[in-house]
Amino acid sequence: MLVRSACDLFAEAFQGRATHGGQAPGRVNLIGDHTDYAMGLALPMAIDRRCVVLGAVRPRKDSVLSIASTSQPGAVHVSDLAAVHPRGWWSYAQGVAAMFARHQLVPGHLGLDLAVASDVPLGSGLSSSAAFEVATATCLEGLLDVRLDPHDKARWCQQAEHDFAGVPCGIMDQTASVLGRAGRALRMDFSTGQTAFVTLPADLRIVVVNTGVRHALGEGAYARLHAAAQRARTLLGEARLRNERPLEPHELPRQDALTRNVAEHVRSESLRVDRCIEALAREDWVGFLARVRESHESMRDRLGASCPEIECIVGAIDARPERAWAARPTGAGFGGCVVVLGRGVEEGEVSRCVAPVFQDSFGRAPEVWDVRAADGAAAPQALI
Ligand code: GLA
Repeated sequence: MLVRSACDLFAEAFQGRATHGGQAPGRVNLIGDHTDYAMGLALPMAIDRRCVVLGAVRPRKDSVLSIASTSQPGAVHVSDLAAVHPRGWWSYAQGVAAMFARHQLVPGHLGLDLAVASDVPLGSGLSSSAAFEVATATCLEGLLDVRLDPHDKARWCQQAEHDFAGVPCGIMDQTASVLGRAGRALRMDFSTGQTAFVTLPADLRIVVVNTGVRHALGEGAYARLHAAAQRARTLLGEARLRNERPLEPHELPRQDALTRNVAEHVRSESLRVDRCIEALAREDWVGFLARVRESHESMRDRLGASCPEIECIVGAIDARPERAWAARPTGAGFGGCVVVLGRGVEEGEVSRCVAPVFQDSFGRAPEVWDVRAADGAAAPQALI
C-alpha cells in the first residue's frame, strides 16, 4: 500500500517513474530512554510501521532536490543542499542528501526527485523522523549505487537530524531503524557502539497508546536533559554513570538538581536494561514488569518527562494489578506514546482498559496499536 501510494505520488509530482526506493521502520523502545546521548544502554526494536521513499536521478542544474510527500501539499524544491534554512518537513531528507554530498557522493550535474509515504505517526515518539532519514538514505544508496556500512548510515542520519532539524538526538532511533530484526529487540551499548539481538518471548504483547500530545524535540526540554547529561559525564566520568552503586550526594554539585537527577536516571536506567534482558531470559515476568514500572517512575520523577496524559494511561494499567502488564513512556516522553508490555494480554484488552478512563479525563479516545518487532531498512521488493 505505502509503496503504491509513493509510486502514484511520484508519477503525479514528477511525471515519470521512480527507479529506486528505500523503506525504514519506526521504533518502540522497550526500556532505556534518555541514555543514548549519555553513553548508557537501551533496548529498542524496529516496528511494523515504516516510511517509504522512492526516487529517481535527473540530469539537471536547476534544483538539486525535489521532494513530495503524501501528507503534504505540493512538492518542495531545494536548490542549495547545504542551506539549513528554511526548515520544514523535508529537512530530514535534505539533511541526509547533504550528508551524501559532503562525502562527494552526489555528482554536481544530477538532481534528485523523491516521493515519500509513511504510516509512522508523526511527532508521536515512534521515530517518524528517523524512519524518514533512514528510508531516504536507503533510497539514495540505490540511486547513487553506493553501499554504506550500517553504523555509518545510522550516524549520517543522526548528523542530518542535528544539522538540519536542529535536534541534538542520540543514535538509538536511527540504529534501530537500520538494524532491526523481526522478533528481536536490540541491546545497544552507547559507550562502545555495540549492538546485540535479544529474542523476544512469543507471548510478549507490545501495545502502543498515543497520548496525542505531540512533541517537537527541538523545543527545549530534550536539549536541557541532553546538556545536563553532558555535565554529569564530565563531572563523574562514563564508568561512574554505569556503576551499580547509587550516586552519593557529594558526587555532584548540590545546587544542580537536574544534573544529579539525570545522572541517577542514566545510571539506574542502564542497569534496568540489563535486568530486563536477564528477566526475559529467565521468563521472570514479575522482575521484567517491575523494571518497566521503575523506568516510568524515573522518567517522571527524575527527568520530568511525563505529562497528565501519560500518567492517565500508566495509571489505568497499574490500576489492574491482576494483569501481567506494565506501561512506560517510550522515546523522549513529554507526550508521545506509552508502551504497554504484557504477557497473556488479549487483543483489544489494553484499549478496553485505557480508553474509557482517558476519554473521561481528556474528552477523546486515544489511538491504540499492537506492534511487532520488525526488520530494519531495505529496498522495497518491487516498484509498481
Ligand atoms: C528521542 C531521541 C533519541 C533518544 C530518545 C530518548 O527519540 O531521538 O535519540 O534520546 O528520544 O531515549
